[in-house]
Amino acid sequence: MNNLRRDFLWGSATASYQCEGAWNEDGKVESMWDHYLHEEHLENGDVASDHYHRFAEDIRMMKEGGQNAYRFSISWPRIITDESGHVNQKGLDFYHEVIRACRENGIEPFVTLYHWDLPQYLQKDGGWLNRATCDAYVRFAETVFREFNGEVSCWTTFNEPRWTIVNGYLIGNYPPGMHDGQMTAIGGYHIMLASALAVERFRSMKISGNIGIVHSYTPVEGVDSRPETLTAMRYADNFMNNWILDVAAKGEIPEDFLEALKDKGIDLSFMKPEDLDAIRRNHVDFLGLNYYARALIKPYTSGETELTVNNKGKAAKGTTTTIIKGWFEQARDPSSRYTEWDTEIYPRGLYEGLLKAWSRYHLPMYVTENGIGYYEDVSQGEVQDDWRVSFMNDHINAIMNAAEEGADVRGYFAWSSFDLYSWKNGCEKRYGLVAVDFAHGLKRTPKKSWHWYKTVAESNGDTIAREKY
Ligand code: BG6
Repeated sequence: MNNLRRDFLWGSATASYQCEGAWNEDGKVESMWDHYLHEEHLENGDVASDHYHRFAEDIRMMKEGGQNAYRFSISWPRIITDESGHVNQKGLDFYHEVIRACRENGIEPFVTLYHWDLPQYLQKDGGWLNRATCDAYVRFAETVFREFNGEVSCWTTFNEPRWTIVNGYLIGNYPPGMHDGQMTAIGGYHIMLASALAVERFRSMKISGNIGIVHSYTPVEGVDSRPETLTAMRYADNFMNNWILDVAAKGEIPEDFLEALKDKGIDLSFMKPEDLDAIRRNHVDFLGLNYYARALIKPYTSGETELTVNNKGKAAKGTTTTIIKGWFEQARDPSSRYTEWDTEIYPRGLYEGLLKAWSRYHLPMYVTENGIGYYEDVSQGEVQDDWRVSFMNDHINAIMNAAEEGADVRGYFAWSSFDLYSWKNGCEKRYGLVAVDFAHGLKRTPKKSWHWYKTVAESNGDTIAREKY
């Protein structure tokens, strides 16, 4: 059985900083990521996949690969280049070209307003810790809405508020590299407020289409069903999912999460009544869910909070740790497979997660990212990425199972359209359906998974090897 909608979106996704390159061309100013990676002398996205100059070829390959949607983000520092709000026409022109190329190729543009590349001029003034950044974001959103109204019908306000804020302010592996619970709470709150304010502006401007948010969805499961495990799962669900999804979909910040933050000594006086009111009133039309893995949770036992992310791949395999003092610990399932970067491969979590999100929010859902990072040698002809084919097959199968049980899923986006820069992991962690040879002129070559995905998209999922759960 295949009950996917006939207008199901079969797409792939990228993000501006990770693929565009051209970091200082045509009036673009420095982003927080440019600044941080340059300062730290780390591998950066100065050139990345050079999509800025090669988008026409990249989008043509999407069409040739049977895809009908492209999720990309708009680089804020390409559009608004200073604090006074100066608009860079060349930046807008670039995205008009990208959207035109999409339309000419029968590809639906699926636009993310913010995929982490905050202008450095705002970061310098406190970034997401500063309430003024919310207003600057709304001005940026308004500029983009007005400019592209009628050209785009699927919009999202933010990509993964939790991942960017927790990594930037608690774990410290992303800019601005902080380790501070109070800052994490303020930054997260401001991003969710900015999202609500942009939704409000979208509606008041009567922009055509729908607006959603993209979340790093991490469905929570327990190692067992003891009461203390259920309590730990609730803490984990609040920390990982609910402060984004409940807020965006229902305008509610979980009360028990606020209590748990207060117990940790977090001062919540930054939550102003008029802003809470804006959050309460402005909900998204749909949910974008990025799915890489679930979180398997066990009760907290002892020790300090410990959060580490493996950004070194096989050199650091097994070092990822998530323990939040007093709340929960994340467990490793000995029967599961994990990538070299410690991401569990667990397709069933997507099925469970979609059903859970559907029953909680009853909003249309798109799987806005799903993919596997791998070391791949792209110099020896077509990459035979059977691992990606089987990974995608099993996750699309999970979506089909969820759809059969009533979940309203409207699209799937492979991460990523082509190889690109993987944040702190550099370019050697490859996700693309198309190989990019970074060492040899950025030549593009479709991988086996690209050909396979074409048959899936063209058959609307009929060629998926099905396993009914
Ligand atoms: C998501 C992001 O968190 O996961 C992407 O939206 C990112 O930007 C992707 O690249 C994969 O993560 P990573 O760290 O392996 O690049």
